Amino acid sequence: MSSKKLPCRPEMFDFEGISMTHFFTENWEKVRNFQSRPDDILIATYPKAGTTWVSYILDLLYFGNEDPECQTSKPIYMRIPFLESCFQEFSTVAGTEMADSLTTTPRLIKTHLPVQLVPKSFWDQNSRIVYVARNAKDNAVSYFHFDRMNMVQPEPGDWNHFLEKFMKGKNVFGPWYDHVSGWWEKKQTYSNLLYLFYEDLVEDTGREVERLCSFLGLSISIEEREKITKGVQFDTMKQNKMINHVTIPFMDFKISPFMRKGKVGDWKGHFTVAQNEQFDEVYKQKMKNTTLKFRTEI
Ligand code: A3P
Repeated sequence: MSSKKLPCRPEMFDFEGISMTHFFTENWEKVRNFQSRPDDILIATYPKAGTTWVSYILDLLYFGNEDPECQTSKPIYMRIPFLESCFQEFSTVAGTEMADSLTTTPRLIKTHLPVQLVPKSFWDQNSRIVYVARNAKDNAVSYFHFDRMNMVQPEPGDWNHFLEKFMKGKNVFGPWYDHVSGWWEKKQTYSNLLYLFYEDLVEDTGREVERLCSFLGLSISIEEREKITKGVQFDTMKQNKMINHVTIPFMDFKISPFMRKGKVGDWKGHFTVAQNEQFDEVYKQKMKNTTLKFRTEI
């Protein structure tokens, strides 16, 4: 890491009612006017819910056989554009530009936007959307470690400070509560949306790959499904330099790896009894109007 030049951490500000940093708002006109295509697949998540995992599964489903070389030479974040990202100071291409220049079909595109900020064309084009949600406690823990090691995220402070912020919804991309429940509501009226849970993926990855295939209208052999399921296990992905983000210059792997634990229930090693009680109270309040249910252990 010593040879890498680390940037100053960004400030957070309110953007359309959501906490954001300039990395995700600077290119907003182009994001807002982004032209989706009917065969695009949007992978939508709150940060740290399993975006990379589902992205890699989709990448293998569509391009695993067709373009295996790409999988060993091109990092996943270059194969699957992060729509709203704009890391100009690192001379990287903005997410919208990267998506526009993709020549593969379907285009796989990643976003962390809350549902109300998704560019209109995705709805107009009836694009398929895969949303992944993760229980709030593990999501918060994962986000905390991510903010510690990722220098383009705001300073997280200590765990207690971070957790307070999380409960107030003052994290980049806004409140977890509104994000997961907003997308859940959308699913009730938009049929091209598949809502997956991280906990289900951990419990039975093969079953969830099958669920994805049936949503996408893909038929694959049992052997192929088993191969993909094996290829996307945590330990395998953690070793894969094209997936584990080691090539990103602003992440400090001495602080924490990107592929950290990959578990359900890791929160138990972070929350004190008092923090847990307070969190449950806040949770009950914030989630009182949704039918959405999560598992915090399996
Ligand atoms: P942890 O920090 O709890 O380990 P995202 O891709 O949305 O940033 O999410 C990252 C989280 O998903 C990390 O969680 C990471 O370890 C976990 N993850 C990624 N691939 C996984 C896999 N194959 N199995 C289990 N968890 C995985």
